[in-house]
Amino acid sequence: MAKPDLMERVVNLCKRRGLIFPSSEIYGGFRSTWDYGPLGVLLKRNVKDAWWRSMVQLRDDIVGLDAAILMHPRVWEASGHVQAFTDPLVDCRNCKERFRADHLPESGACPNCGAEGSFTEARQFHLMFKTHVGPIEDDASIAYLRPETAQGIFVNFLNVQTTTRKKPPFGIAQIGKAFRNEITPGNFIFRTREFEVMEMEYFVPPEDGPRWYEYWCQERLRWFVDLGIPEEQLRLRPHDAEELSHYSAGTSDVEFSYPWGWGELEGIANRTDYDLKRQSEYSGQDLSYYDQDADRRYVPHVIEPALGSDRCMLAFLLAAYREEEVRGEKRTLLRLDPRLAPVAVAVLPLSRNERLNPVAHEVADLLRPRFMIDVDDAGSIGRRYRRQDEVGTPLCVTVDFETLDDRAVTVRDRDSMSQDRVPIDKLVEHLEELLPQ
Ligand code: GAP
Repeated sequence: MAKPDLMERVVNLCKRRGLIFPSSEIYGGFRSTWDYGPLGVLLKRNVKDAWWRSMVQLRDDIVGLDAAILMHPRVWEASGHVQAFTDPLVDCRNCKERFRADHLPESGACPNCGAEGSFTEARQFHLMFKTHVGPIEDDASIAYLRPETAQGIFVNFLNVQTTTRKKPPFGIAQIGKAFRNEITPGNFIFRTREFEVMEMEYFVPPEDGPRWYEYWCQERLRWFVDLGIPEEQLRLRPHDAEELSHYSAGTSDVEFSYPWGWGELEGIANRTDYDLKRQSEYSGQDLSYYDQDADRRYVPHVIEPALGSDRCMLAFLLAAYREEEVRGEKRTLLRLDPRLAPVAVAVLPLSRNERLNPVAHEVADLLRPRFMIDVDDAGSIGRRYRRQDEVGTPLCVTVDFETLDDRAVTVRDRDSMSQDRVPIDKLVEHLEELLPQ
């Protein structure tokens, strides 16, 4: 499928099937933000759960945190964001559109109106959203909507380290909203002004920074492949010196091949001791760590994998989208990993029938506590299979007239479309085998 078509089809599917809607749509939309509908919220939750499971649940060296969005404004002075969190902005003198100077095409022509040599000099545009806390709007009440969750972790380093008694190497993971006044939001949920980020700060002895940086680059790449993104659609790209953020001694992006070309999916940065030292300097609190075994005190270095949940969800959707021909008919499907699929099991009575419905509801009640399910009895069974394929439901359970006699149901697989007959009293066990965590 041509790549521009792929993007358009995924966006259409998301709208049509209730995954993602334009925010404030009844007012014409808000361009830079999106709302997640009933299926979208399930998919996004599964993406976040998969990340949390791999980062926190399955490891004994990482703990979780949920820090506030609004923090003391000094946090952002210490982090360098107040001074340096800017993008270069240019205006087209011809059409008045604004662009990020570092995202312009090489031709130098305006991407909107095509005018040549029409750009103003670049000026720095600040990306943090400012607000005021309390009833008085003056300089003393300024607060910022956080542009990353990382600083919430650094300012809690001591709280977490002392209460959990973790020793470096150890990490703190957090998922939460972040806000950036992007100059050019776009490409659907790829770049938005409000987004969710999944960040983990891994604190290590200074001399171990480079080794752990390499480890996390490989580990993060592996996570995407494990959840079904083909290796050839991923690559690791180290930043060159001019590209590095003010805090970084080395950054690599996990890039994904989007329909418009390779682009950032996740960033993995070696932030050295920059953040802990700066927060220590600005707060007057000692954020060093005393290593009793080695009898030495040091400020840990930090390796940070940071991934947008929305952007990551887009990559999973793009990688999973397929159109196939089955017996002369088109079928659209999302080949999502079952751990990510919004609905795990659909229960489908063969037809709307007063003898089948009670059994279908009995099966649904049996499955509901274990799996996210959907019950659908509207339309032909073929059309209902297609509807489930389109939103990536890995398994459908069909209740038919034979079920009334043999107390067995048909389990149909999304990808192979193969069907197995399974007794109702073995169904939960059978589905659990097919849907590992
Ligand atoms: N604490 C490090 C940090 O914030 P970043 O590379 O600026 O690093 C991390 O952001 C990740 O957040 C990106 O790799 C991307 O997945 C996601 N992200 C960043 N800006 C975004 C935006 N405007 N919209 C959606 N996702 C965004």
